[in-house]
Formats: sequence, C-alpha cells, structure tokens
Amino acid sequence: PFPTHVRLVEVGPRDGLQNEPKPIATATKLELIDRLAAAGIGYIEAASFVSPKWVPQMADHREVMTGLTRRQGVTYAALTPNLKGLEAALECGVEEVAVFGAASEAFSQKNINCSVAESLARFGPVLDRAKQAKVRVRGYVSCVLGCPYEGEIAPAKVADVSKALFDMGCYEVSLGDTIGVGTPLTAKRMLEAVSRDIPMDKLAAHFHDTYGQALANLYAVLEEGISVVDSSVAGLGGCPYAKGASGNVASEDVVYLLNGLGIDSGIDLNTLAETGTWITNTIGRTNRSKVGVALAAK
Ligand code: HMG
Ligand code: MG
Repeated sequence: PFPTHVRLVEVGPRDGLQNEPKPIATATKLELIDRLAAAGIGYIEAASFVSPKWVPQMADHREVMTGLTRRQGVTYAALTPNLKGLEAALECGVEEVAVFGAASEAFSQKNINCSVAESLARFGPVLDRAKQAKVRVRGYVSCVLGCPYEGEIAPAKVADVSKALFDMGCYEVSLGDTIGVGTPLTAKRMLEAVSRDIPMDKLAAHFHDTYGQALANLYAVLEEGISVVDSSVAGLGGCPYAKGASGNVASEDVVYLLNGLGIDSGIDLNTLAETGTWITNTIGRTNRSKVGVALAAK
C-alpha cells in the first residue's frame, strides 16, 4: 500500500552540487538551502565533510554549516565519512549526519578509499561519537541496483550492508541507485531483500535518473511502502566517483507525482519549482526537472 505521507530528503545542495566543476559561491549555496526550506522541505542535506582533495566543491562545508539561517522544523544534515569529518561537523553545530557505504567493493575503494568491511569498521566509532553528541546518523548504501565498475549487484549484498549499518545504529538506511540503472522490477526485488531485515519505515529511496527510470522506480517502491524519498531540486548532480552518472530524481517531479497520488509531503510545488529555475540559471545548468520546466513555461 502507498504511504499517506512522504518525507522528502533534499540532497541538492550536497549530491546536486558536489560534482560541479566550477566553484559555486558559498552565498549561492546558502540561498539555495534557505529557498528549499521556504518551499516546505523539512530535511536538507546541506554539506559534506569530506576531503577537499577528493571533492573540492564541498570544501566550504564549515562556512555552509555555520552560515545557515536555521528555520524551525528543518533538519540540516551533512555527510561525515569518518571521525575527522564528524568532529568538524559537530564543531559547526550539525544536527544530523550521514555515513556512506556501498554494496560494491570496487565502488567503495574508488569513493572512500577502503573496502566495504573497512568502511563498516570505520563507521563504528563515528556512530559511537555521534550518539554521545546526541546526533542522529543516517546510513547510505551506494550501488544498490548496479555498480559502474562491477555491473550487477546481488540484492543479498545490498541487504547485508544495509543490515550492518542499521545494526550499528543508523536510524535509517538510504538505498542509492548511484548510477540510475535500475528498473521497477529490480528495484522491487532489491527492496524485498533489504526489507526482510529492516522495517520499511526505516528505509529510504535514493534514485539517480541517468537512464530516466527514477520516477518509475520510485512509484514501484512507494507502492511497497517506502515513505522517505531523496531527491535533488532541478535534478542537479552526479557522483564524482561514478562517471557519467546524472543527478538525482528531481524534487519537483517527485512532489508532482506525490500530489497526483494524493500523498502529502508538505511541500509547496511552485516555490520549489521557482527554486529550481533560480539555481539552474545561477550556476548555468539545464533544469532537469520536467515539472520545473513545464511550470516555468506557464
Ligand atoms: P583517504 O585519503 O583514505 O583518507 O580518504 P586519510 O584518512 O588517509 O586522509 C588523507 C587526507 O585527507 C589527510 O590530509 C586527511 O586529513 C584528509 P593530508 O594529511 O593529506 O593533508 N581527510 C579529510 N579532510 C577533510 N575531511 C575529512 C577528511 N578525512 C581525511 N573528513 C576519505 C578517505 C573518506 C576522506 C576520502 O576518500 C573522501 O573524502 N571521499 C569522499 C568521497 C565523496 O564525497 N563522494 C561523494 C559522496 S558519496 C555519494 O555521492 C553517493 C550517495 O549520494 C548515495 C548514492 O547516490 O549512491 C551518498
Ligand atoms: Mg547520490
């Protein structure tokens, strides 16, 4: 059955911008974050406390995290791959963080320079320290429907890594189709395997739209009861360690779909679409939200 309410996790300021080759002003990021909050989004992934050598675009993580105008009821989160990242994020007053692992060995090596087992061992202390600081930790699993280096990924592998993150204390596990290769049936099969070990309401769908299947895949998993959806305004983004991968499913398109299904998200579609138009104009990108483009043309 479809959920009655969906919580949208807006990853545009992080996943959406991390791969941009030209520097984006911190002020632009801050305005983007605030416009997203003004549209009614309650959870925004604002920054990433990763190595600036690996992801230069996220080098201003401290300025972003401390420059935010915090609105009531909005969670501003950040990625923290290790203790160093977590400590820096805590210093900046972060409310919530995320660790990110993968269901693929090769992707794990390319993305965070360690094996899957090593990454899980590294996340342990991050979770302990976060718990001590009363900061919740979300867990990501990448390559849940395919890997740019290894190809097909077995649902059982996704289930194992997801369970490890959940057992370690991640309150929610976000399932990433990093390179957007999934289709509705593979998405359902993967979710079936993962949800044997983790309750459906502790899982999120994080689908990239490289092959144009993200909305269809979302429809499939919403029908199975997924009620947390990660998306990026204007469909911005891509992963620096997954060549050719395009952005996340566009937030505007997700909200339009949810509205049509009678599923509440608390988000104002017009304000969101205006934000998508604004950010794409500002950074010189094509708006990859069909809904955003349609609304702008009205
Ligand atoms: P490493 O080189 O193995 O780390 O990188 P290290 O511990 O050996 O340290 C090397 C250098 O990095 C040192 O500096 C550290 O201080 C520094 P140096 O002495 O050489 O000057 N360093 C850091 N600096 C800032 N913040 C930190 C940090 N940690 C170490 N937290 C590391 C390991 C994880 C740091 C690196 O591989 C990295 O930063 N990777 C990030 C990759 C990334 O951000 N990818 C994109 C996000 S994931 C994604 O997009 C997928 C997702 O959307 C879901 C999906 O779609 O599937 C989440
Ligand atoms: Mg992603």
